Amino acid sequence: MTSAWTEPAPVTVRVPAKVNLELLVGPPRQDGYHPLSTVYQAVGLYDEITVEPATEWSVSVTGPFAGQVPSDDSNLALQAARLLGGHAPDAGPVAIAIRKKIPVAGGMAGGSADAAGALVACDALWCLGLHKEELEQVAAELGSDVPFLVAGGTAMGSGRGELLAPVLARGTFHWVFALSGAGLSTPAVYAECDRIRGSGPLAMPAPKPATMAALRSGDAHALAAVLENDLQEAAFALRPDLGEVLAQGLGLGALGGIVSGSGPTIAFLVEDKEAGIDLAVSLTASGVCPDVRRASGPVHGAHVLHGARTS
Ligand code: C5P
Repeated sequence: MTSAWTEPAPVTVRVPAKVNLELLVGPPRQDGYHPLSTVYQAVGLYDEITVEPATEWSVSVTGPFAGQVPSDDSNLALQAARLLGGHAPDAGPVAIAIRKKIPVAGGMAGGSADAAGALVACDALWCLGLHKEELEQVAAELGSDVPFLVAGGTAMGSGRGELLAPVLARGTFHWVFALSGAGLSTPAVYAECDRIRGSGPLAMPAPKPATMAALRSGDAHALAAVLENDLQEAAFALRPDLGEVLAQGLGLGALGGIVSGSGPTIAFLVEDKEAGIDLAVSLTASGVCPDVRRASGPVHGAHVLHGARTS
């Protein structure tokens, strides 16, 4: 007679990257974080996270950026799985496999995406059935961007970026991302931003009505005109070569361009898919950046591809 108990099937989750359309940064708080007013958009550049029961906790990484991702306890996906395991009395260790396509330390939340993906995957594997809002609360313990990668779409972020409110965005926006070699450290970019600003008084950041109007209209030209990132000057100070990348992309026909998050990836907004293909080809041919990706947004946040149980 065979046993009725079967090992749960592995669960695979797809999780997108993000770009900040607006990243307004206030003065540092007591805890060292900076208050933000940001608008996130999830874009269709994905990592895949697979989790399955194992005798011990582990993480392995494949894909073009695998060599830059730690597979020890500092891996954010592993931390996410362990954290959620604390909420699940019957959860045992899992083996996590990451197929990495989002650039590492590029300002597109690659590490945060893997944490979000691991949360959604373990929730399905362990049949926890947590609501998105509950997962977002756990996600906030792992990093400021992690709740947004669970939520996806287009959203406003406040607090240190973890408090989300949905934003009405019409249509699809097309992006070209110029990857720029070695990553930038997020704390170093925030510290450089503080240094450049000095100790003068600084207003608390607030969302710009023009950005909301551009998103509501679905007009890429209007959105291009309002893209803004307070960390851009700091990223350029640490990586002076990025100014040339931005200038090249704009010269080659992008509607607008901006440092993505804390950089060094530069995000270019283009009119449509064809314009994106043209810009990607021209940027690559110009030799100004080592690698280019295209994606559109908004897209869904972390979601199960296969392996979820239906009950
Ligand atoms: O929240 P997360 O772990 O992703 O943040 C990484 C680092 O980025 C923080 O340690 C902090 O130095 C900086 N940061 C910040 N203000 C924010 C978000 C991040 O200073 N709102």
